[in-house]
Amino acid sequence: MLEWCYRYLARPVLFSFDPEFVHNVTLKGLEWVSASALLSAAMRSFCKSPELPVSLFGLSFPNPVGLAAGMDKAGVALRAWESMGFGFSELGAVTWYAQPGNPLPRVFRAVREEAIVNRMGFNNKGAQKLAEVLSHCKEKGRWPSHPVGINLGKSKKMPLAEAPQDYASSFRELKELADFFVVNVSSPNTPNLRKLQDKEALRAIFSQLQEHNRKGQEAPKPILLKVAPELTSEALEDIVELIPRLEIAGIVATNTTIARPKSDHPKVKKVYAQTGGLSGKPLRKRSTEVIEYLYRRTEGKVPIIGSGGIFTPEDAWEKITHGASLLQIFTSLVYEGPLVVKKINLGLQELLKANGFASIQEAVGSAVKK
Ligand SMILES: Cc1cc2nc3c(=O)[nH]c(=O)nc-3n(C[C@H](O)[C@H](O)[C@H](O)COP(=O)(O)O)c2cc1C
Repeated sequence: MLEWCYRYLARPVLFSFDPEFVHNVTLKGLEWVSASALLSAAMRSFCKSPELPVSLFGLSFPNPVGLAAGMDKAGVALRAWESMGFGFSELGAVTWYAQPGNPLPRVFRAVREEAIVNRMGFNNKGAQKLAEVLSHCKEKGRWPSHPVGINLGKSKKMPLAEAPQDYASSFRELKELADFFVVNVSSPNTPNLRKLQDKEALRAIFSQLQEHNRKGQEAPKPILLKVAPELTSEALEDIVELIPRLEIAGIVATNTTIARPKSDHPKVKKVYAQTGGLSGKPLRKRSTEVIEYLYRRTEGKVPIIGSGGIFTPEDAWEKITHGASLLQIFTSLVYEGPLVVKKINLGLQELLKANGFASIQEAVGSAVKK
């Protein structure tokens, strides 16, 4: 019923406004929810997900469905994500230097295809500001009980050669404030960023990060790599080879795509003509292919977080059985509303039972012959 209300009552109103405006207003609302124990509890009573625990990287995830990077870049609504039923959240992308991102408009909906094209360009207030926000959240007792990750991007003004220092500066500032980190070298919206997916560039970035990771009294944090869906099998092979050497804790597969499916619909064609990364339903198949490829090549030994076009429990199941241990959603939250998280988790619970698995971990990669 509530889902119906979102789709047929709330969504048409929201979709009559500019996507980024709606995003900002929604986040403001969720910031209020986060700041109030009462509102957080009220949201939880509608959205609570069933327990589907996953243990990974020494962390306990109450369920496998996480919030994808880009939704809460500034970490303003942490407790609301937990109340919405998410098993973990990834904040950011954050860069060392504050930056405005690309000129507006920079987010576009292809409603017929249930997709989004964005070219945000890492708009954010910088790592030091994010550290302040997160420290404040901890002090006020508003920290969620689920794991929190931070997506690290490169500051636009820094040349590629200085990317390692740039990522390392953000990491040093934020290391004690999150449970895991994701190195984002796969956004299509920062000029040449994806060149950093090359072997040598990755080696330089991860060497610096791991050097800082070993320093200090705290245990090292898991550092993952987020990859683009366009990577060829050769490029993926290079990454597979680098994983143990660079102590990459896992892979997030995948980011948005610069590819566009064919469409004859004039409105969709107009959106697809926009520069930027495409997310949502059209990304589902390719991101699952990348997950399966990586799962096979790493013999299931490297944790994969599946991201791309997950709207239904069946989409989530496809990603898990092809190798993903955890999942992330962004676009389905926009199209289906907040109850999508619970819906996916309830459906996963059913699918586990129907297929005779006792846990998510047992089902991971079960459709892939190793
Ligand atoms: C508006 C928007 C902003 C995003 N910003 C980021 C980002 O800052 N860092 C990142 O790694 N991914 C970012 N993404 C990609 C998502 O995290 C996710 O990987 C991708 O959208 C695929 O998942 P989906 O099909 O569920 O949306 C963004 C996506 C959208 C739509």
